[in-house]
Amino acid sequence: MKILGIETSCDETAVAVVTGDKKILSNLVFSQIAEHQDYGGVVPEIAARAHMEKITPLIRNALAESGTSFTELDGIAATAGPGLIGGLIVGVMLAKSIASSAKKPFYAINHLEGHALTARLTGEITFPFLLLLVSGGHCQILAVENVGKYKLLGKTQDDALGEAFDKTAKMLGLGYPGGPALEKLAKSGDKTRFHFPRAMKGRPGCDFSFSGIKTAINRLIKDFATLAEQDKADIAASFQQCAAEIVYDRMKNAIEIFRTAYPGANRLVIAGGVAANEYLKSALGELAAQENFELFSPPIALCTDNAAMIAWAGVEKIKAGLLPDGLDFAPRARWPLTT
Ligand code: KG4
Ligand code: ZN
Repeated sequence: MKILGIETSCDETAVAVVTGDKKILSNLVFSQIAEHQDYGGVVPEIAARAHMEKITPLIRNALAESGTSFTELDGIAATAGPGLIGGLIVGVMLAKSIASSAKKPFYAINHLEGHALTARLTGEITFPFLLLLVSGGHCQILAVENVGKYKLLGKTQDDALGEAFDKTAKMLGLGYPGGPALEKLAKSGDKTRFHFPRAMKGRPGCDFSFSGIKTAINRLIKDFATLAEQDKADIAASFQQCAAEIVYDRMKNAIEIFRTAYPGANRLVIAGGVAANEYLKSALGELAAQENFELFSPPIALCTDNAAMIAWAGVEKIKAGLLPDGLDFAPRARWPLTT
């Protein structure tokens, strides 16, 4: 089985070909970072135009690299939400056109489901598993029961974790996207120098709140006449420590809830762009070891936005016996995983 995957929900134009037996035959990503950098964040109109420019050559190259023709495909899977509607329309319309002309089934993929199932593309992860999904736009804890079957255990009440990294990085003048730059800077910083609020810590349940940290950092920065490099590094390290402590605390509760609901299941998967953060992963690794859970995280290139995860979600849908989607499926800017 060979599935073509298309991802255009945010600022990466991505195309991949993945097989039913977990081979990634091609996985191309065009990052639009340079186009959005001057604005400090993703500009939807610029993103949609860049997707339009890049998507056709990327599809051609991804098929060539995988040695696959349209006729050899078993389906076309495209991210149909949630995300920026302009980009989603570009990817979905093109996927439908290919599906229609090549007479292949079309699968509308929820971007979050792509992130959620990636661990099964790169590892032998069986259902159910506990998932921490942390990206620039999403921050949720889910019990993944099966393909298309998700239970929401907790979510952020305000900013997503990646958004908190990005906003802190922006205040420190680190550019966009800030997560990777902040993690790098934090390595030379003192994580104990500043104390930011650990919102929700110690409370029951597993919801998050990160917006208070942003306010605290903003206030702190105003107290400095100028920020020296070491001050910046100390803020980065203190922020990262604070974020990791919050996630640790929330995940500890999540594990308790998950264990009660699914006795015997003991896999914790971390996915989404922030899963690239080594500091956070090591904190979660400690928690997992303490709780007798096995922590699993896909390779970094498959944690940040890509199309192999979308193609794989298509494979999973087919294997689960789910029907293709109609060519009238409308892209959805908002699309919770639990509906
Ligand atoms: O999943 P993703 O590529 O796109 C969304 O669906 O949002 O995630 C991007 C997010 C950005 O907020 C970025 O700053 C964050 O993931 N990120 C990181 C790291 N690498 C990427 N955050 C913290 N540490 C990192 N190393
Ligand atoms: Zn994503």
